[in-house]
Amino acid sequence: MEADDDRHPYDRTYEIQVVDIGHDMASVVVHSDPFTEYLHLARFDDGWKIVNAFYRRNRPNQVPMIEPVLRLATLDDVDEIDALMKSSTRDLFPIFYDDAQTEASVHYIAAVDRSLIQDGTYFAMEANGELVACGGWSRRDKLYTGSGDAGGDARPLDPASEPARLRAMFVRADWTRRGLGTRILEACEAAARAEGFQTLALMSTLPGLPLYERFGFQILERVDIPLPNGTTIGGARMVMQLPSAGPLRQPPSSR
Ligand SMILES: CC(C)(COP(=O)(O)OP(=O)(O)OC[C@H]1O[C@@H](n2cnc3c(N)ncnc32)[C@H](O)[C@@H]1OP(=O)(O)O)[C@@H](O)C(=O)NCCC(=O)NCCS
Repeated sequence: MEADDDRHPYDRTYEIQVVDIGHDMASVVVHSDPFTEYLHLARFDDGWKIVNAFYRRNRPNQVPMIEPVLRLATLDDVDEIDALMKSSTRDLFPIFYDDAQTEASVHYIAAVDRSLIQDGTYFAMEANGELVACGGWSRRDKLYTGSGDAGGDARPLDPASEPARLRAMFVRADWTRRGLGTRILEACEAAARAEGFQTLALMSTLPGLPLYERFGFQILERVDIPLPNGTTIGGARMVMQLPSAGPLRQPPSSR
C-alpha cells in the first residue's frame, strides 16, 4: 500500500452497489476511494460468501491529458470501431460474465451495425489519432446488435409514440470513468430530441447499468439476453423520458 492510501479501512467511505442478484449468486461493486472492487458472491448453506474479487485503483486525476473529440462515425471507421468494441468487451465483460458469455458477447454484441453509421446516428471519440469510445442511437426498431437481422427489424420508429433506441456504447478499458460514455449519451439525447423523440430505450448489459442509471434511465425489467448461439447474458431493459420542450436537461454527471 502506498503512502497516500494509508487510511485505515474503517476510515474510508464505502458505496455498495448490488448490480445483479439471483437466488444464489450476486454481483456487487464497492466504491471506496481510492479503490473500486468488483465482487461475486455465492449463497452457501451458512450464508453469502465472496467467491471472486477484483479491484482496481481509481485514477487520482480523472481528467485525461488529451481531450477526446466527438464526431459522427463514417464507414471508414468500421474496422477500428469493430476492434474497439471487441477489446472493450474482452476487457470489461469478465467482471460480470463468465468466459463463454464474454466470448459470445464479443461475437454477437461487439459487432458493428453499419446501418447506424449510414443513418448518421453513430458517434466516435478520438484521442491521439485513435478511437477510444463509440456509441449511438437509432430511429429504427432494433434494440441491440444480435437481436435480429438488420433487414428484418429495421422499421422506422414513430417519434411521437415510440422511443428512440440507444445502441452499441463501448469505451476502451483504459479510457473508462472519464466521462466519455456520458458525452456520447448527451449527444444521442440531443440528436433524438431534435427529431422529436420523447423517450429513449435500450437493452443494457450488466457493465452498462451504472452508466445508464447515473444518466437517468430506469430499469423496466431484468432479463436474460439471448444470443444467437444459445448463450444468455444478464441485462436489463431501460427507458428514459425526455422533456418534450425547452433546453436540454442538465445531465447528472455533466463535466
Ligand atoms: C459502460 C461504459 C460504456 C461506461 O463508459 P464510461 O465512459 O466509463 O462512463 P462514464 O465515465 O461517462 O461514467 C459516468 C458515470 O456512470 C457510472 N459508471 C460508469 N461506469 C461505471 C462502473 N464501471 N462502475 C460504477 N459506476 C460506473 C459512474 O457514476 C460514472 O461517474 P463517475 O466516474 O464520476 O463515478 C464502459 O464501461 C464500457 O464500454 N463497458 C463495456 C461495454 C458495455 O457494456 N457497454 C454497454 C452496452 S449496453
